[in-house]
Amino acid sequence: MNVAHRRNHDLKEDIRTYWSQRSKTFDLAFGHKIADGPEFDAWAAAIRKEIGDRPLKVLELACGTGEITRVLLSLSHEVTALDFSEAMLVVARAKHNDNPNVRFILADAENTMEPDACYDAVVCRHLVWTLIQPAQAFADWHRVLRPGGRLLFFDGDWATPTRLGRMASGLIWLMERVIGHDPHYDGAMGERHASIMQRLPFGSGLSPVLVVPMLERAGFDAVRVISHDRVARGQRARANLRNKLRTIVYRKFVIGCIKT
Ligand SMILES: C[S@@+](CC[C@H](N)C(=O)[O-])C[C@H]1O[C@@H](n2cnc3c(N)ncnc32)[C@H](O)[C@@H]1O
Repeated sequence: MNVAHRRNHDLKEDIRTYWSQRSKTFDLAFGHKIADGPEFDAWAAAIRKEIGDRPLKVLELACGTGEITRVLLSLSHEVTALDFSEAMLVVARAKHNDNPNVRFILADAENTMEPDACYDAVVCRHLVWTLIQPAQAFADWHRVLRPGGRLLFFDGDWATPTRLGRMASGLIWLMERVIGHDPHYDGAMGERHASIMQRLPFGSGLSPVLVVPMLERAGFDAVRVISHDRVARGQRARANLRNKLRTIVYRKFVIGCIKT
């Protein structure tokens, strides 16, 4: 293994270990588990709007505990859901045990090893920011889509809070001095998280400005930046004040594009 490969390998292992260790409590952190009701409906509407309402063959990348999987299955899609953390897949499989429309696989989202042109849509949430080789990953996602197929992903700039977000963070900090710290929340600034962030290509922040040209270079067309507001409103509908504030800390966005 040459030096660059060794470095990537170590980073990928660190990322996998980080998520595996969080698998058991991942759903307890706000923003991960999708609450039934307005939040679930908002996710379903956002996905339906972009990939339509006909049942499709969908590849879900980095399914984690299977929350977006739940939304995709509710829309009657036939889902292949992959993650490179076996610990995450254990949680996801347990959730969807009896559903014949989903197949879980242990695989690397940057090199899926799935056949060419076999999916109608590729969907993921909160994966792109943590890619090590995004250009290679986007080329692979383009490859597995059939012509006319769509890529849809939900992500954000987790490195730098927005100006309003800094105020929200300040308020959360004050609240937590009174009500205590939430042990399950990501702590984007947690030590392990920070050490991984600084080694990632998008470690200084994922933005449409960075990612749109990369998707175009990978061969995608009609690359669009779509607002995340509808989902955020759904998340806020039944959230407590601390979690409502969390929805405005970072800039989140949705990207949709097509393989023509
Ligand atoms: C922030 S979690 C998001 C989980 C899920 N998509 C969700 O939104 O609930 C990130 C997930 O990406 C997975 N992941 C990160 N890099 C990956 C890769 N290269 N291949 C497969 N899974 C990956 C992790 O194991 C983890 O489950």
